Amino acid sequence: MDWEQKLSDGVTPSKPVIAVDGPAASGKGTLARRLAAHYGFAYLDTGALYRAVALSVIDAGHAPESEPHGVAAAETLNMAQLDEADFAARLRTAETGKAASIVAAMPDVRAAILSAQRRFAENPPDNKSGAVLDGRDIGTVVCPDASAKLFITANAAIRAERRWKELRIGDAALSLAEVLVDIEARDARDKSRAIAPMKQAADALLLDTSDLSIEEAFTAVLALVESKLNL
Ligand code: DC
Repeated sequence: MDWEQKLSDGVTPSKPVIAVDGPAASGKGTLARRLAAHYGFAYLDTGALYRAVALSVIDAGHAPESEPHGVAAAETLNMAQLDEADFAARLRTAETGKAASIVAAMPDVRAAILSAQRRFAENPPDNKSGAVLDGRDIGTVVCPDASAKLFITANAAIRAERRWKELRIGDAALSLAEVLVDIEARDARDKSRAIAPMKQAADALLLDTSDLSIEEAFTAVLALVESKLNL
């Protein structure tokens, strides 16, 4: 789509949005960050929002399955907390990831977080010229009109190995088998939930990163995005 053409046509000004969806450890976060840096766009890791809700519930002493506490945490989510070093580090643990997938299946949690994500896409912070959002439902629900949509995947064994290499730095006792079980359970929960399940949008471009290095994957992603954006 030609954005300058759109503006000159008198269409409501809006900025390009790149939607990047896919399962855990597919490489979507790294690729989305790099796309944002490449184009000078703002970047939002929407998984961090669900992780923050889950962590707030756990920190308050409740089980992640407790829906009223999940909804209350989502409604009072403090985005500034995402930048606090200790909170941000605890967001990345395997326990928080699993809990995030549980709170993410709650319709009222998703509803509370939806408008913040849309505001980010429509009005990127720091007056950036566009936005990249990554998650599970960006191309299908959050930004169905995104200028470019990607669905990044990789086979579960490879994703488990990638995630295990990251997580074992903080937890030497963690086994690869445990991480694989966890990833498969998370995929199943994220794909089968009734509301906004993880799925490839009909107009999303698919990239399987199983056999690609980060550089190779980024080159491929850039070519796909360039085919959709006219910047
Ligand atoms: O991408 P991540 O591993 O940080 O995401 C954590 C969980 O949050 C994931 O298992 C599902 C949920 N999630 C979601 O349901 N929708 C999103 N847009 C992003 C994440």
